[in-house]
Amino acid sequence: MKIELWFPTAIYHHDASEQEAAEVRAELQSVVDRELDEILSRKDAKSRSYIQSRQAGHRQIIQKYDLTHFHAFLIRHAGAFLSKLHPEAQGVEVRESWFNFYAPGDSQEVHNHLHAIHPSYLSGVFYLSAPPDCGDIKFYHPNMQTAVTNPQGSIENYETCYTPIENRLMLFRSHVPHAVLPNRSDALRVSISFNIYVI
Ligand SMILES: [Fe+2]
Repeated sequence: MKIELWFPTAIYHHDASEQEAAEVRAELQSVVDRELDEILSRKDAKSRSYIQSRQAGHRQIIQKYDLTHFHAFLIRHAGAFLSKLHPEAQGVEVRESWFNFYAPGDSQEVHNHLHAIHPSYLSGVFYLSAPPDCGDIKFYHPNMQTAVTNPQGSIENYETCYTPIENRLMLFRSHVPHAVLPNRSDALRVSISFNIYVI
């Protein structure tokens, strides 16, 4: 009998070095509270299961706040990941970037980041505040239409979780379904999400 395992799903994660974290945080420090206040002033702020504005101005935070260090950080790591996934890529472009705020009890349903007209290649998240028990990110097998639990003892995997850690960057292909489990802490969970396109 021969059983072969094929078609792995690549997940990239990187804990920012002290220097990377210091640069990125210095840039973001004054921005986070401002953005949260602005989002909460919009009537669509709680239209989802977590705090996020759907308005275009909040989907381009790198450009809006001129986050040059954060942008360079993303491009550097997306490049490293792409050198393994798509070695012929000429370059990458971050076209959407936005904050996510999860108050205690907030969560996010299963979704992917594939847009019908211009699908992005990579998506990802960077954790700014991740108190203990603030909700794992859960990834699902890309070919499963609905979530399937991992059968005990099986050599196949349909889902896996990562616990958010402050200053951790995660990158994954944009078609990979993922969800955010409920924030069971008593503090805010803050992250930045983004979509990256191959050019
Ligand atoms: Fe997402």
